[in-house]
Amino acid sequence: MASITLSIMGDPQPILEPLTPAAIFLVATIDEGGEQTVRDFLTDLGGLRRSVGFRLPGAGLTCVTSIGSTAWDRLFTGRRPAELHEFPGYSGARHQAPATPGDLLFHIKAEAQDACFELAMLIGDRLSGAVTIVDETVGFRYFEQRDLLGFVDGTENPEGAAPASDAGRAALIGDEDPEFAGGSYVIVQKYVHPMTDWRQLPVPEQERVIGRTKLDDIEFSDADKPANSHVAVNTIIDPDGTQRQILRANMPFGSVRDNEFGTYYIAYAATPSVTEAMLVRMFLGSDEAEYDRILDFSTAVTGTSFFTPPQHFFDDLPAAPEQSEELRESLGANDLDDSGTAAQSGDGSLAIGTMKRSMRK
Ligand code: HEM
Repeated sequence: MASITLSIMGDPQPILEPLTPAAIFLVATIDEGGEQTVRDFLTDLGGLRRSVGFRLPGAGLTCVTSIGSTAWDRLFTGRRPAELHEFPGYSGARHQAPATPGDLLFHIKAEAQDACFELAMLIGDRLSGAVTIVDETVGFRYFEQRDLLGFVDGTENPEGAAPASDAGRAALIGDEDPEFAGGSYVIVQKYVHPMTDWRQLPVPEQERVIGRTKLDDIEFSDADKPANSHVAVNTIIDPDGTQRQILRANMPFGSVRDNEFGTYYIAYAATPSVTEAMLVRMFLGSDEAEYDRILDFSTAVTGTSFFTPPQHFFDDLPAAPEQSEELRESLGANDLDDSGTAAQSGDGSLAIGTMKRSMRK
């Protein structure tokens, strides 16, 4: 029972919360030697969010923090999330999805941009000198939840706010990796749209690219939906008839000065394999379609994978790699298991008392 496991193992970060009008996406790489600052910061971030959010009642400020595969080993010892790996990148005959650097992802959401910006500023301040922010994207809700191509984006997302809902089942890890239950795998990609080309395409043709009508957002019938339409390519049905789902939280972004108009694609999933299967179909193609036609009007400029730990993970981080070394020396290797975690004493308690916490500084 996934719901029981989740309540025992700890709550997910607020990834099931509905989309908001404002968002900021920060992707950072950890500078050499910045690991300890990042660890300290990760335990404090919840308090920072409360400091900003409490003063802005109704702003609904949330921040979902995620960690990349290489960064995981620089920050923590012990077991890794079972499916955590770097974004593979995809190179199709016509279109490419590059893999770009990123150790930390902060997905900040709120009803208003001031709340997002204040928290982003605090994050930047606290991590200054320890990380390099490699991408900052300010997302906004465009009218009627449309993307900048003019289509409503998000309609067929699985629904629900509870871990046992459709959205929860699609996005959250359950019994399959109990230590990380309530966690999620997230993939982000920044896409830019050549708007002039897109606008030249007649609306009925645009609708065939997406697989839905533009004005009233109705899905085409199977008979009318082209095999290379975005919706057809991303509908993956298992042999037993179940549809494989992810939870998307895309936001438009843009700059008139830079003539840049895009979609920040972000999707949470219980396993990265579902999102990756979609990307394979989009970029490398399948028996039904050579590639996803949306890519003729959407160029991927970034691509990074992360793991989103459950909330409780940040209350007591696993030991840092160098801490494990120090512990080994001070306790003797026999007191530690292979993962660098202190072995339990006969009474079931950790033999090291409060050492783990005191060594965090
Ligand atoms: C340029 C970036 C993208 C844009 C503008 C975009 C836009 C859209 C739109 C307008 C829809 C139809 C309405 C809806 O159900 O949300 C849709 C559906 C969907 N998209 Fe995307 N999308 C983008 C990238 C991606 C990527 C990279 C993936 C997967 C890796 C993806 C997966 C899906 C899925 C699973 C659906 C729902 C299919 C269904 O069950 O009907 N999208 N997208």
